[in-house]
Amino acid sequence: MKIPIIAPSLLSADFSQLVSGIELINQSGAEWIHFDVMDGSFVPPITFGAKMVKDARKHSSLIFDVHLMTEHPETRIEDFAEAGADYITFHPEAAVHAHRIVQQIHKTGKKAGISIVPSTPVSFIRELCPFADLILIMTVNPGYGGQTLIRECLDKVSLLRALREEKGYGYLLSVDGGINKDTSVSARDAGTDVMVAGTAFFSAENPKQAVKNLKGLK
Ligand code: DX5
Ligand code: ZN
Repeated sequence: MKIPIIAPSLLSADFSQLVSGIELINQSGAEWIHFDVMDGSFVPPITFGAKMVKDARKHSSLIFDVHLMTEHPETRIEDFAEAGADYITFHPEAAVHAHRIVQQIHKTGKKAGISIVPSTPVSFIRELCPFADLILIMTVNPGYGGQTLIRECLDKVSLLRALREEKGYGYLLSVDGGINKDTSVSARDAGTDVMVAGTAFFSAENPKQAVKNLKGLK
């Protein structure tokens, strides 16, 4: 069984103590940091913009995984690329010209990710699969941390893993929402490469052990 990459989400950190939150991730054995960018339109809350990513870049050399839950994602790509994102993930549900946005992200030299909400089928992104570097399967309806994982969404991971093997595509498979020690078992079984964890990381007494648990390590 491959050991997944862990990406704690800063959404569950105390925003008044962000540097110590980032340091906690740096010391935890996690490889990525997940940034939940919400615009108050694609999803109800508003979180933060590119400046947050830029300032956080000074405090970590981990991989920055930016999750854009915004309308008109094409208007935001260059800002987050310049801010230091490594992966820029958008929702094709919010974009007509999704293939052009993948090209736009690649033009900045960054990795392109696509994410689908629970009600969106895999068939909706089939044409993008040859070009994506990351596919982020939402296992909750986006907008909030601390929700319960929707198990049926993990079937999409198995489908996309099979497609990747059949076609030789290069995307990583990530899951986001309701991931914890228990639900991570079925996420790993489905073939997940990357797991986002907000509450399970920042509410843990021992974040290092929490990361090991999510990886399926003792
Ligand atoms: C929700 C975000 C998630 C969220 C995960 O819309 O995209 O990244 O922060 O938080 P947990 O792990 O608490 O479900
Ligand atoms: Zn997210």
